[in-house]
Amino acid sequence: MSTNFQFLKYEEKNQVGFLTLNREDKLNALNEKVLQELREFLENFIHEPKPINGLIFTGAGEKSFIAGADIASMSEMDEKKGEAFATLGQQVTFLFEALKIPVIAAVNGFALGGGCEMSLACDFIYATENARFALPEVSLGLIPGFGGTQRLENVIGRNYAREMVYTGRMINAEEALRIGLVNKILKTKAELLQAAEETIKEIAQKSPYAVGIAKKVMNNGNDLTIAEGLRLERERFAAIFNSYDMKEGTKAFVEKRKASFKGK
Ligand code: COA
Repeated sequence: MSTNFQFLKYEEKNQVGFLTLNREDKLNALNEKVLQELREFLENFIHEPKPINGLIFTGAGEKSFIAGADIASMSEMDEKKGEAFATLGQQVTFLFEALKIPVIAAVNGFALGGGCEMSLACDFIYATENARFALPEVSLGLIPGFGGTQRLENVIGRNYAREMVYTGRMINAEEALRIGLVNKILKTKAELLQAAEETIKEIAQKSPYAVGIAKKVMNNGNDLTIAEGLRLERERFAAIFNSYDMKEGTKAFVEKRKASFKGK
């Protein structure tokens, strides 16, 4: 993997990966270069999986997770460039979803526009007390382009999603928790990262293979009818009976011992 990313920092601790978007002077706004780096990082990750149990995605500094797509660069775009930009941003969101490990968005401060959309592509969101969420694109004469019109509704439901998209209003961490956008609120960024790390460690006690399949079925199920989704679930449920982890997990329960999973 290329290690000389300009706008990304990556480190591993206790088998947990920490990916930090590092463009603090612009509140971690997403320009083309930032998105290309994210795409390259995640593609590499998929082709050469790392020995980690989960990924925590956060923004550099205390003030902002990601303050959106870069407005200065969008102001210069035409239709063709706009399409390429949305395609690139959406590719990044698909790559987060394609990772077989859990990904937690650790939202420190602003998660606006493209930042909110990146957090929606993660499996779930933990946030600091100063977190603020919005899809403010209509204030700029735009609409969300990195999945906001589709994924927000899946997460918080049709009516809240429409109100957020039509008003562009910023909501605080408490409200985000109340409407189910955020799972947990922490006081400081250090506590935020620690809570996310603990949850990844908790998940790591389970079968990593089963968690990966559950993630895939839940993500793919979003695009299907209920009957198709249930068929997908049934097929993957059946296929998992061939896995080592399933045999070990059920046997360990019967033998009243802790399971020793291998992730296959
Ligand atoms: N795109 C490009 N640059 C951005 C940005 C974005 N989305 N968000 C913040 N920045 C830049 C600012 O231009 C400023 O750069 P400068 O120091 O070179 O002037 C720097 O980040 C700091 O932001 P600033 O506006 O000075 O901070 P603030 O605390 O006064 O306000 C926000 C913070 C988040 C309220 C404000 O930056 C904002 O409204 N940003 C745009 C949010 C948005 O609409 N995002 C969705 C885009 S689709």
